[in-house]
Amino acid sequence: MKATEFGKKGWTPERIGDLSGKTYVITGTTSGTGFEAARILLSKGAKVVMLNRNPKKSEDIINTLKQELGKDINVVNIQMDLAEQASVRKAAAEVLEKVSRIDALICNAAIAQVPTQKLTVDGFESQLGVNHYGHFTLQGLLFPMIEKSKGRIVTVGSMGYDMGLKTIKFDDMNWDKDYAANDAYSQSKLAQIMSIYELQDRLKEAGKTDVKAYACHPGSSRTSLIATSGSLMMRIIFGLMKLSPLTQPAENGAYPMLMCATEKNLDQSAFYGPTGRSNWVGPVGAHELKPHAKNKVVAERLWKVSEEATGFKWNL
Ligand SMILES: NC(=O)c1ccc[n+]([C@@H]2O[C@H](COP(=O)([O-])OP(=O)(O)OC[C@H]3O[C@@H](n4cnc5c(N)ncnc54)[C@H](OP(=O)(O)O)[C@@H]3O)[C@@H](O)[C@H]2O)c1
Repeated sequence: MKATEFGKKGWTPERIGDLSGKTYVITGTTSGTGFEAARILLSKGAKVVMLNRNPKKSEDIINTLKQELGKDINVVNIQMDLAEQASVRKAAAEVLEKVSRIDALICNAAIAQVPTQKLTVDGFESQLGVNHYGHFTLQGLLFPMIEKSKGRIVTVGSMGYDMGLKTIKFDDMNWDKDYAANDAYSQSKLAQIMSIYELQDRLKEAGKTDVKAYACHPGSSRTSLIATSGSLMMRIIFGLMKLSPLTQPAENGAYPMLMCATEKNLDQSAFYGPTGRSNWVGPVGAHELKPHAKNKVVAERLWKVSEEATGFKWNL
């Protein structure tokens, strides 16, 4: 489906109907696109389960949302730090206890442009550990309920998939040699979308076609991403970019993930995001994806490496 099929404005949340009775699980809602996505889902009557690392920030944003949308909104927060596999496992168990269905799991949280090599408690390069391995395990653990609900898995990638090495550095996953913030971030986002396309293949082979998996990205959106984990230089550069028409409000950045979580008849093989200049801004729809993101040999190896690293084995 092309942006033009949604008219000149592309896909917008006006297309979402009443979401009463539906449940969305979303990571990283304390700011940026995740906050906007949660706000819009709640405004349509959905139940939203937020998975955030910082309980105080979560409490604050839930209060903000209650002030805006009313105190009866159906929202819960579960503490989860994607940088710790044990925390992901604990949070997933809590989700499975607290909800009876998952219409979509939206994997939105991330860190970016971490200036020096840092390792998570599990020994993973921080961006790979948080953005890819954390979500890889979460998706697998929540899969049984997503399957029961005929739900979706939505991954928020980045146009960064087409920067840096444009493949996975299997011989040095942690970037012990030649660490570069943008290369490591780009690889983590490439890994996220590659594993979504690999998941689609595995679901098809297993005959589990009731579950849909989608990859999207928010373009270039004015959020806290660089301020949270980027270097001073990157913060200055992105601060200047925010003043230019090459960036868009965080709310627009939420549209692709909302589309993938709610719109009917999407093409799973597509990559969804803004269709305007450089795919950073503009009407939301499907757009070009470079072939390296679907390199089957790399994708299969990445899946295996991810299972070994996380210790989580999918039944697919
Ligand atoms: N903004 C852009 O232009 C842009 C471009 C391409 C892709 N993206 C992607 O868009 C998504 C959303 O980012 P954003 O721009 O909205 O950034 P953001 O405002 O910084 O939001 C990121 C969210 O992720 C959470 N998070 C970070 N590390 C976490 C961890 N270890 N465990 C759990 N949650 C964690 C943050 O929580 P805290 O508040 O606790 O830090 C925050 O809620 C990301 O996947 C990012 O890669 C953004």
